[in-house]
Parts: sequence; C-alpha cells; structure tokens
Amino acid sequence: MNIKETLLKAKNEKYAIPQFNINNLEWAKYILEVCEEEKSPVFLGVSSGAAKYMGGFDVIVGMVNGLKKDLNITVPVMLHLDHATTFELCKDAVDAGFDSIMFDGSKGSYEDNIKTTNEVKNYLKGQLLEAEIGKIGGEEDGIANELYFTSVEEAEDFISKTNIDMLAPALGSVHGIYKGEPDIKLDIMKEISDKTNMPLVLHGGSGIPEEILKQAVQNGICKANFNTELQLGWHKAVLEFVENNKDVYDPRKVISSGEEGLKNVAREYIRILGSKGKA
Ligand code: 13P
Repeated sequence: MNIKETLLKAKNEKYAIPQFNINNLEWAKYILEVCEEEKSPVFLGVSSGAAKYMGGFDVIVGMVNGLKKDLNITVPVMLHLDHATTFELCKDAVDAGFDSIMFDGSKGSYEDNIKTTNEVKNYLKGQLLEAEIGKIGGEEDGIANELYFTSVEEAEDFISKTNIDMLAPALGSVHGIYKGEPDIKLDIMKEISDKTNMPLVLHGGSGIPEEILKQAVQNGICKANFNTELQLGWHKAVLEFVENNKDVYDPRKVISSGEEGLKNVAREYIRILGSKGKA
C-alpha cells in the first residue's frame, strides 16, 4: 500500500493515524518501537526547529531509515515535515527523502498560501502534501500564534484551487497546553469532511479529551498530531528519576528514564485514535 492509500484507508474506516513529533534519536526509536508493538501506522513529525536541532534533514532521513532497518520496523512510517513556512524548506525535505510535507502558508495572505501550496505540489516526487488554512493557535517552536477559524466555504475554495492530499483546518485546537477546556468546532469539521471528502488533520492533539478526539475521528479527522503530551510524559518520568538518582550522569540512563513515560502516552493515543492493528 502506498502512503496515499494508507491515509484514505484510515478516512474510509474511520480511524486516525497518529503523528508523533520527534526531537532526537531516542524519541524516534521509542515511537517506532511502540508503533511496531501496537501495529499502528505512524507519521513521524519533524518541525523546522526540531530539524535544525537534530542537525538537518539528511541526518533525520539517515537516522529514521537506520532505525527502521535495525529495529525491523514493518509498520508504515511516514517521515513528515511539520509546519514548513517556506517553499525552500519543503524542497530541501523532499530532496533529502521525506515522505510527506506540510506547507503552512497560514501566516501569509490566502492568495499566497494557494500560490506556494501549488508550487510545493509541483515540486513533489510522490510525497503527500498537507496544507493549513485559518490559523491554529498556541505555540509552535516557541512562537505564539493567534487563532483564526476556518470556514466551510474557505475549505471548499482552497481545495478546489490546490491539489493537496490533506487539509489542516483551524477549528479551535491549539499547539501546546490548553488554557481551559478545548472548544473544537466538531460540526464545522463534519461539514468540511462531508462536502469535500478531504482527509482532515487535527493539530494540537495534546490536551484534547478522549471523547472529543474520538468524535473528531468520526467527523473526518484521519491524522492527528501530538507533541506536547509526549514531552510531558517523558519529562515527568525523567524528573522522578533525577530526583532519586542525583549521582547518575550516564546520558543513556538519564534520557532513557523517560522511555516508558513517553511510550505510555503514545500507546494511549494509538488506542484512542483506533489505529492499533491497522498496519
Ligand atoms: P501539540 O504539541 O499540542 O500536541 O501539537 C502538536 C502538533 O500539532 C504538531 O503539528
């Protein structure tokens, strides 16, 4: 099955493939191990900031390919560039061997968003393309964004003018930690899905209650992104370890003390999204 078919299968069968964002070798390894155990397909999300942190796109492609081979990973793994705000970043990730690209032109004008989305599409060599309209709020790579809701009309118009594979509409989810209860516009989500039949992506998955995530999947979400909760799960376990083991300085022991904390979060989202056993 190619990656487009993997995505459409999720949409048709009403489950969602998780996107777990990676920050380093350990993150990638732990996530691949969990997804293999749970037999879940996965998008490994890489923000531009995380790409820079890890050394660059070539490092990441080499690392992920090496892990897949050495750990005998058999589930579909889509290495995905998250929130690239320029054509050049998308081009570089394609050239390095990424499988899936998100061009995020939501900060510029609507017309420019359409124009650059199409330029990226024309450059692709078989990769999936995700675009964002409206503005997803919260913080991404330390930069705060305002929230601006996507309308059904805008989604229909954008899709008719671009040839994208997935759309991330801004419907109330935010990146990072929610202030109060998340207010996700599930009715608009369903209307966009019904009218366009486009695979929809939920950003800012961390902190959204289970019932809302499940409804979002029923309403057309077939890829859901998680970053912050993985970090929090890892951090809590590492803090506990460090407090009790102040004299341990081996980085392998310190970093891997968060392994189960991170893996438990990933396992829980795989269960909620219904992607367990779908690989
Ligand atoms: P969270 O950090 O809120 O889970 O968001 C992740 C995300 O949407 C990445 O694109």
